[in-house]
Amino acid sequence: MRFILIATRISANNHMSKKQRRKPTQKAQTRYLCEAEVAPGLEFITAEEIQKRVSGLIGQPQYQKGKGFVHFRYQGELKALCALKTVIAIYVILKFDVPRPKALLGHQHFTKITQMIHSVRSMWPAGTFKTLSIGAAGKHTKVMQRLQQALGEGSHLEVVERGDLHLRIRPAKDMGWETLIRISPRPLATRDYRIHNMEGALNASVAHAMCLLANSQANDIFVNIACGSGTLLIERAMIGELWQAIGIDNRLEALQMAQVNIEASGYGQKIELIWGDAHQIPLADNSADVLVADLPFGQLVGDMTSNETLYPAVLKEGGRIAKDGAQFIIITHAIKLMEKVLREQGMWVVERILPITLSGLHPRIFLLKRKSRTIDEV
Ligand SMILES: C[S@@+](CC[C@H](N)C(=O)[O-])C[C@H]1O[C@@H](n2cnc3c(N)ncnc32)[C@H](O)[C@@H]1O
Repeated sequence: MRFILIATRISANNHMSKKQRRKPTQKAQTRYLCEAEVAPGLEFITAEEIQKRVSGLIGQPQYQKGKGFVHFRYQGELKALCALKTVIAIYVILKFDVPRPKALLGHQHFTKITQMIHSVRSMWPAGTFKTLSIGAAGKHTKVMQRLQQALGEGSHLEVVERGDLHLRIRPAKDMGWETLIRISPRPLATRDYRIHNMEGALNASVAHAMCLLANSQANDIFVNIACGSGTLLIERAMIGELWQAIGIDNRLEALQMAQVNIEASGYGQKIELIWGDAHQIPLADNSADVLVADLPFGQLVGDMTSNETLYPAVLKEGGRIAKDGAQFIIITHAIKLMEKVLREQGMWVVERILPITLSGLHPRIFLLKRKSRTIDEV
């Protein structure tokens, strides 16, 4: 059974009049120190994305591998940063030269924090933020509770465990204390297209990073084996032009969720879903330019017994449909199994392995390249 999804692409029309366009901005733009929260291990991809896509960036983004954040200085509209796709969330950092967090309750510091909260809230439609939360190591201490209460009262937001407006308070690396204010009501990795949040669906910021690693080009045939609810297909379509993206899954229920999500994303035109088994992929030999897979980890989705036959099949069938030199980007938490299967096959070269941290787990992203076919294979 095949699903062919057709949806209209959203075109970004510029409705500004010539006069509006010519008018110079009156207000001097504020400078911000920002923190992009990312899946630990993927900082370099976010740093590259910031360099490529953020106009108004001051200097170079700074990060340490595996720490889960990228720092950068920025001058411009904060809302523009919400377009970053490999980040989990963006925070503005306010630094205070104070010895203890209690001092943040002082008039001057408190006003600075509430002003920044006001700036963030004013970027979004009225009523977007209803609740507030604070994340801090000593969150349950009296001082943090007072601070939380005062900020809730000052901003007329209800204090809850996970608020729309989320702040973090922590000691600064050198000295003093920092308050971080998230600039969006939800993490940016929570995408609007995710109407169906399938159990075991891949974090969208990680899916986006995998698609960037795949370096898929405009005329590519992009294949997602075991596509589930369609995250990798949609994230690939977001990056730019593509000839065709094909998702294959053996669960009809997963494909139905993918169909709804893809339609909601507005990228349905180029995405085809196939109900099929990874042991026997219904695609021609030598036809795919780029392949991606978020394989069942064997915890939430699948089990280790079925994985033992699924993983070699994915590499074998993936190798059959891949063109020579095709990239195959795979994420899995079943590392030992994946390593064993890679040792026992002859079609793929392992180019790179990226350990990452995601929801408390430590999966790896394997970057493979299809070897040229031997005479026997042709
Ligand atoms: C971890 S989930 C993929 C989640 C997906 N990336 C998303 O964001 O929704 C793994 C998927 O592999 C599929 N799967 C398991 N065994 C399969 C097989 N033999 N053939 C095709 N798909 C299979 C499952 O149905 C599931 O949707």
